Amino acid sequence: MAFTIAIDGPAAAGKGTISKAVSEHFGFGHLDTGLLYRAVGARMLDGAEPVSAAETLEVVDLERDDLRTVAVAQAASKVAVIAGVRAALVDFQRAFARRAGGAVMDGRDIGTVICPEAEVKLFVTASAEVRARRRFLELTAKGSVLTLDEVLADVRARDERDMTRAEAPLKPADDAILIDTSTLSIDDAVARAIAEVTARLG
Ligand code: DC
Repeated sequence: MAFTIAIDGPAAAGKGTISKAVSEHFGFGHLDTGLLYRAVGARMLDGAEPVSAAETLEVVDLERDDLRTVAVAQAASKVAVIAGVRAALVDFQRAFARRAGGAVMDGRDIGTVICPEAEVKLFVTASAEVRARRRFLELTAKGSVLTLDEVLADVRARDERDMTRAEAPLKPADDAILIDTSTLSIDDAVARAIAEVTARLG
């Protein structure tokens, strides 16, 4: 059975945690599509041309240990505005989405562009301040010396670029269910997402 759950939203809204929990709960596969853009961004920082990097992406590129750094996140958001980069990543994402056994796809444009036919579409969001605080705590725990203000500026810069680009901008699909995690605990947000999927699985 193919069943696609699209989970879109801005950085650090809780998409990743919710996607993992939902995929484990239902036994579905999970693709973090942001990693594809991060891998292309990392290769650009190494000197590669972004479109050819996207066209020749390999599993090893997705296993690099620098994909979660702030520099690579910014590079990902930059390569993500390039139409040729996005086009090169479409087929892989669509094939994963329709894999037998169900798929949870998290990203920015899954419900709008990659899988407009997804059986469930969630748009997970939270205020920029709440998201920056979460990212700041995560980065600090990993030894980062960035200040909260610097992380907030990074979150805002990425939001701006992701929401205003011409190609597949970040926005909720018309039929997406909105989950605002600004004031929800992660357990409540996960429970809400699971309830929405259960309702549609019938
Ligand atoms: O979700 P993330 O922070 O790992 O994503 C990194 C960047 O990749 C993000 O700033 C925008 C881009 N991205 C995208 O354009 N489309 C997606 N489906 C996923 C990520």
